[in-house]
Order: sequence, then C-alpha cells, then structure tokens
Amino acid sequence: MLPIIRPRRIRKHKWIRDLVAQEQLLVQDLIYPLFITSGSNITSPINKMPGVFVYSIDKLLDEISKSINQGILAIALFPQIDNEFKTLDAHHSYSDDNLVCKAVRAIKQKFSDQVGVICDVALDPYTLHGHDGVLNTEMSDVDNDATLEILGKQALSLSRNGADFVAPSDMMDGRIRYIRSALDQNSFANIGIISYAAKYASKLYGPFRQAIGSKKIGESINKESYQMDIRNSKEALQEIELDVEESADIILIKPAIHSLDIIANTSSSIKIPVFAYQVSGEYVMNYLYSSSCDISFESVIIESLTCIKRSGARAIFSYAAPLVANFLKSNNRL
Ligand code: PBG
Repeated sequence: MLPIIRPRRIRKHKWIRDLVAQEQLLVQDLIYPLFITSGSNITSPINKMPGVFVYSIDKLLDEISKSINQGILAIALFPQIDNEFKTLDAHHSYSDDNLVCKAVRAIKQKFSDQVGVICDVALDPYTLHGHDGVLNTEMSDVDNDATLEILGKQALSLSRNGADFVAPSDMMDGRIRYIRSALDQNSFANIGIISYAAKYASKLYGPFRQAIGSKKIGESINKESYQMDIRNSKEALQEIELDVEESADIILIKPAIHSLDIIANTSSSIKIPVFAYQVSGEYVMNYLYSSSCDISFESVIIESLTCIKRSGARAIFSYAAPLVANFLKSNNRL
C-alpha cells in the first residue's frame, strides 16, 4: 500500500514551507543585553564571547543607535562595577551615580522612547563576593529579607533614572511583591517588572560573571541556595505562579535551551507574556559548535532562537541580537 497521507507535500518547495511555517523569528522578538563599564572611548571584547563587547557609556550610545536602526526594540543593561564600589552591603547598587543609572539617563536623554531599557535588579555586580544578595550575620547564606530592602531601593533608583522595566534576577522569595509595593508607593506605578521567575543554578553563566567582574571565568560561585535546582520542574511552575500572583508583568526563564519544557508549560498555562534568556554559555556553545564544524554562526544561533520561540517564548534576550537582526534583514526569507 502506498501512503495516501504524504506530509512531504508541504515541504516540497521553499514557498510552501514558508507559507505553512508556524513560527518565524523576527527582529522584534529580540532583546539585546549590553555590558557597560566606566571611562570613555572603550569597546573591549568579552572573554570567550567573540563578537560581544563591554562599552563605556559614549560607545554604548553608538551601539544602541545602530541597534535601533536595525529594528531592535529593547536592550538590557549589565554593569562592570569598579572594585572600589563593591562592598558587603552593596550600597552602590542604589546610588543615582552608579554606572547603570548614568547609562539609563544618557540613553533616555538621547533616544527617549525609541528603545526600551530593561535593568537588572540584583546585587551581584555590587557585592564583594559576587552573590546576588547580602549575607547573613554568620556569613553562611544570602539573607533573603535583608536583601529585599536593598533590591527595593535599587529598583527605585533605576526607575528614578529612567528604566522602563526592572528585572529582578536574584531569586529571593517575595521580591516581586516587595518591589511592586516600593514602586507603587513612590509614584512609579507605571514601571513594569520582568521577573526572572524561573532561574536555574546553571553552569552556563560563567562568561557573564567574568564580564561583570563578579567571578573569573571557571571560578565557581555556589548560588544553589537561591537559584533553582535543575532537577526540578514543578518548583519552576510554583516560582512562576507566585510571581504572577505577586504582580509580575512578564515572566523570564533561563537558561533558555535547557528550559524548553518550562517555557512550553508556562506559556500555555499563564496569561502574561513569557520571555527567555539565551545566556552567555549558550552563546558560547553555539559559537564553538559553529566554528569547530565550519557552519555559519548565524544559522546555528537562529535555529536555537527559533526553537526557543517555538517552545512559547514571546521574546528572547540574546547577545547575538544585532548579528541576527542583520541576517534577518538581508535574508528576508531564511
Ligand atoms: C545575575 C545575573 C546572571 C545572569 C543575568 N543576571 C548571572 C548569575 O545569576 O550569576 C546571567 C546571564 C548570562 O549568563 O548571560 N543576577
């Protein structure tokens, strides 16, 4: 018996494949994370992440201007804080004069609302030890509730200086409600919260940690008492439900490619948008694979981003955003 149902019919030509395609990666799906440093006229490469740089604010503005021209809608900022400002109590995290606040002011002054600015709320760039919160008096663990107070102040200073969305990435309990009420009580009711609701304790954050100077590459820091255990998925769903109840506007999940089950489950079960973060280690994995097998980096990274979108992510943070935007523009059809 010959087959009567032949799924290959809709794969025969490019035009029909394009016509039936369920998902299409678009430049509007991308959020561009950017690293910033003090000083001026600096564009310096990030170790292990070819094509990714840390910028001083003047150069950052040039990079943002290019990405606006490419159609990128939003950026996320991550600071490399000078050692002199790192302390145990992370008080520089809520100074209006810190690098992120200065950068947001400069960006908003120059570009106004042409680009959305998302700012991380977490203490790791500002603590001496690189943890996302302050330690308890015994110095044995991150102190949840003491950290909340500082996160609240940090969210306020970011909002005061022009951030559109704050993105708590620290994984403390109760921080969405805490930050929401701090914002609401200080007339920032319109500043949104993108919650890193499901963030796993992953090995894939290494290049990022060295980029912001919180740890040298390969040097480990154990965040397992607050970031989630990779063996659990129900816990992720609980974290997400809690953050929705606590009034998060958008849910963010990371690492992306290791969390497709969580993205798929969440995007079908909750009503608010779900974003994903293709983290630094994922960028490196894609890059090394493409260079060692001589396959174009763009095609490899686009496959990864498209699959993340297919799993249900509405938008994706990616260090490759400008590269992908360029590729999508010149190859309107993949
Ligand atoms: C820290 C933070 C991390 C990332 C984003 N915010 C690292 C960490 O949790 O140690 C990782 C992003 C990446 O690897 O690209 N608050």
